[in-house]
Amino acid sequence: MNQKKKYGQGETTYLAVGKEAGVRALVERFYALMSSRPQYQTIRSWHPEDISESADRLALFLCSWMGGPLGYRAKYGSINIMQAHKHLNVTDVERDQWLSCMSEALEQLNYSQDLVEYLLEQLRLPAERIRQTCSGTSE
Ligand code: HEM
Repeated sequence: MNQKKKYGQGETTYLAVGKEAGVRALVERFYALMSSRPQYQTIRSWHPEDISESADRLALFLCSWMGGPLGYRAKYGSINIMQAHKHLNVTDVERDQWLSCMSEALEQLNYSQDLVEYLLEQLRLPAERIRQTCSGTSE
């Protein structure tokens, strides 16, 4: 059986990542890499210099996206993830920077390989939808 099938049901993914503390550690690593690696300079420059609120927003969003509590909504209100990026010029280059940065962060955190692969497969979907919304095309 495909081990990845266990994720995506109820809170399974959220628990596997280590609940809110795990998601926050992942987001912290993600933004630390984005801030230090020249290949992510473009997308880092689109964020505020002080990354703390962006990190808080992304962490709370990912908690609910992974099946955990709806903390983003409670603190920041409702969000449409495509519309939230519409002011940015996300092309395939920046989409891939974001995914590659997330991939590096996941690889550094000692998660099981099936969890890493599952998360990257799933994150590719909204990342591509964001690119399409920003470019106004579905290609
Ligand atoms: C496709 C590549 C992506 C790029 C280049 C990107 C870039 C950014 C940038 C620059 C911001 C800050 C915007 C601002 O302060 O004005 C942001 C915010 C955010 N991003 Fe992304 N992002 C991408 C994909 C994603 C994905 C796949 C997710 C979630 C699965 C995500 C979740 C968020 C959230 C929750 C926020 C905070 C938005 C808010 O609260 O208004 N992003 N992103």
